[in-house]
Amino acid sequence: MNNSSELNVNGQPNVPQADVNGHAVNTNTENDMQIPPMSGLLTDLHRHHHVFGDTPNKEIRTIGVLTSGGDAPGMNACIRAVVRAGCYYGYRMVGINRGYHGLLRGEVNELDARKVSGILSRGGTFLMTARSKTFPTEEGINSAARMAKVFGIDALVVIGGDGSFRGAQKLSHVGLPVIGIPGTIDNDVASTEYTIGYDTAMNTAMECIDRIRDTASSHERCSVIEVMGREAGYLALNVGLSCGAEVILLPEIPTDFDRDVIKVILECRNLGKNHFVVVVAEGVGNSVQIAKQIEEVTGIESRATILGHLQRGGSPTIRDRQTACFMGMKAIECINAGRLNRIIAEQGGKCVDLDIDEALSMNKSIARDEILDAKIIAF
Ligand code: F6P
Repeated sequence: MNNSSELNVNGQPNVPQADVNGHAVNTNTENDMQIPPMSGLLTDLHRHHHVFGDTPNKEIRTIGVLTSGGDAPGMNACIRAVVRAGCYYGYRMVGINRGYHGLLRGEVNELDARKVSGILSRGGTFLMTARSKTFPTEEGINSAARMAKVFGIDALVVIGGDGSFRGAQKLSHVGLPVIGIPGTIDNDVASTEYTIGYDTAMNTAMECIDRIRDTASSHERCSVIEVMGREAGYLALNVGLSCGAEVILLPEIPTDFDRDVIKVILECRNLGKNHFVVVVAEGVGNSVQIAKQIEEVTGIESRATILGHLQRGGSPTIRDRQTACFMGMKAIECINAGRLNRIIAEQGGKCVDLDIDEALSMNKSIARDEILDAKIIAF
């Protein structure tokens, strides 16, 4: 096996050796696996590879990375990008298990390029995640910052949603430099147009609803499907639009049950439809109750399905992998340049970084036009 990225007895990474032609020399005597000759690109990569400890930002030697809040597909791809980019620039990289909860408990492990191998395509987060109740308190923030010091963490990369960023912001105010990368299936982080995991979750929900429509059509039923999104309706709107839902209910838009649900379903029936899909964002309320009411008022047999946590799993789509890679690399780029306490964001299709205080004071909301468009083509 090529052990090139493991630490040697001095705690320094083993640097792969190359001959005068730039071809790797296999120095491993325990295993006879042949290392193929390095490509031009790899030779170039090693030529520019920073030596461990010789970091572009002299103030920062060790970078911690954690995932916090609800997991999202693509978080692993992002951890991999952060760790590999960090190693490339010579930083010592450590992973914190179970988010802020793990930081408080000192669950810190050394990471290197090989330790993040094989995770790119995996859903979830191999660092695990948690929602800590103790951490957001003043005492929690101070002990977390102290713990970071104990483990020599000079900067912390937090992959998570809005709540995780508010925690990171508090850490930045007590002197621990942070970088936030948006990862949540809800797409509800104000400063960014896109959050890692959103596309995979939308595709998962869409596939499920397509299946549900098949059976709703056979039985001439109304299917009420609840999708996640916490207080936001992004997931519901775009999934509803993509599945041709007759009704989409979002927490951002107050619903008049008779006008927005019953009347629409009856109109669709009059236009010849024999089955109906109602997509409900979880922030709207009880989808089982909604299905019951539809059946009572219209006489159309109705069923409710709560998609729940299955929307959070699965192998990330290319959109999520790509965003995870770019955002992960951008986080390290910010640290290199001394741009600390930043939130990585997608704006106008570009990967940018914003001041954390500014980013967390932003708002975003769903455009009403998008909802109208969805309604027009559902008839
Ligand atoms: O924030 C992601 C999310 O999946 C929300 O859509 C949902 O409201 C929440 O997390 C569920 O949280 P938990 O996994 O703690 O039940």
